[in-house]
Amino acid sequence: MTLLQTLRGEPASRVPIWIMRQAGRYLPEYRAIKEKSSFEAMTRDPAVAAEITLQPLRRFALDAAIIFSDIMTPLEALGIDVVFKPGPTIAEPIRSRKQIDALQLRGPIAPFVGDALRLVRLELDRSVALIGFGGAPLTLAAYLIEGGGSKEYEHFRQFLRAEPQAMHALLEKLTDLSIAYLRMQVESGAQVIQLFDSWAGLHDAATYREFAVPYHARIMSALGELGVARIYFALGASHLLDEIAQIPSEAVGIDWRTTFAAARKALPDRAIQGNLDPALLFADPDTIRREARNVLERARGGPHVFNLGHGIWQQTPIEAVSRLVETVREYRL
Ligand code: CP3
Repeated sequence: MTLLQTLRGEPASRVPIWIMRQAGRYLPEYRAIKEKSSFEAMTRDPAVAAEITLQPLRRFALDAAIIFSDIMTPLEALGIDVVFKPGPTIAEPIRSRKQIDALQLRGPIAPFVGDALRLVRLELDRSVALIGFGGAPLTLAAYLIEGGGSKEYEHFRQFLRAEPQAMHALLEKLTDLSIAYLRMQVESGAQVIQLFDSWAGLHDAATYREFAVPYHARIMSALGELGVARIYFALGASHLLDEIAQIPSEAVGIDWRTTFAAARKALPDRAIQGNLDPALLFADPDTIRREARNVLERARGGPHVFNLGHGIWQQTPIEAVSRLVETVREYRL
């Protein structure tokens, strides 16, 4: 299995590829299901979630399937109401210590994700790895406090400064939840876990050391004991590589603004995943091929997992994805 070999640092003859958000709205077969259902219903039905997870694998020769779900999905178990329109929105954003103290586990954590993982594994070719995932506590906290997506995350950043102790209490609870949730995914067949810290880029290094590193490291250490391969992805985090080095993982995902040279220097013991700009999939076929090969060349010198620098965009042409996957598949190390 090429992805697992690369993540374990074993020699491989080619570079494995998967694509962040590979199951989703750029696929007409996904949109056909979405037309008749809500995102919430689709994630909660294991047969539907398994089908959507497998859709991109039928089109492209990818090295992994990532389970169809969302980083916000496990939060319902804490009594938090999340609605997707299409981004996650929180009916009652968390803005007080009292709300944080009231958060407690009310039942099993998204057991339907475990059921979906088992269904996917049954259908998946043995050469394809199965990826589970979760949101990093600091990114989950950003959505919970802000109440949804935002450009500056003013409420979140204000709360972090005004109530640092309450923020730590929230991160502690989100860390416990994440460990139980991700452990369940591993027990259900996930061979790789990616932790998404999509809003890492909001913070300076000192803030990241205090509010991200201890919690995210605790999750990754707990997963390490299970022997699952771990990928840590942080967006806009070129200035945080020394902090990310303190978080255990087999691989670190970088975006298109972080160079392989900088990542290899700060993270000499990790595989590096990335980092084609998702916008490049809108270029002409020759440019896509050339830029993908540039990424492959720049990544040489250590284990590399090919990916985009962030999730694939909704308007991306299918042929561009085919071209990209072919280019990476042909490339020999
Ligand atoms: O292929 C996959 O990666 C499968 C599943 C997946 C989804 N969300 C499905 C989804 C994964 C891995 C995620 C992770 C996720 N969700 C992240 C981390 C990755 C990143 O992009 O930074 C974040 C920040 C979220 C929160 C979220 N969920 C947003 C911002 C949105 C709306 C806009 C968007 O980017 O799609 C969602 C909704 C969502 N999650 C959709 C899908 C397919 C769209 C739902 C629809 O069809 O309307």
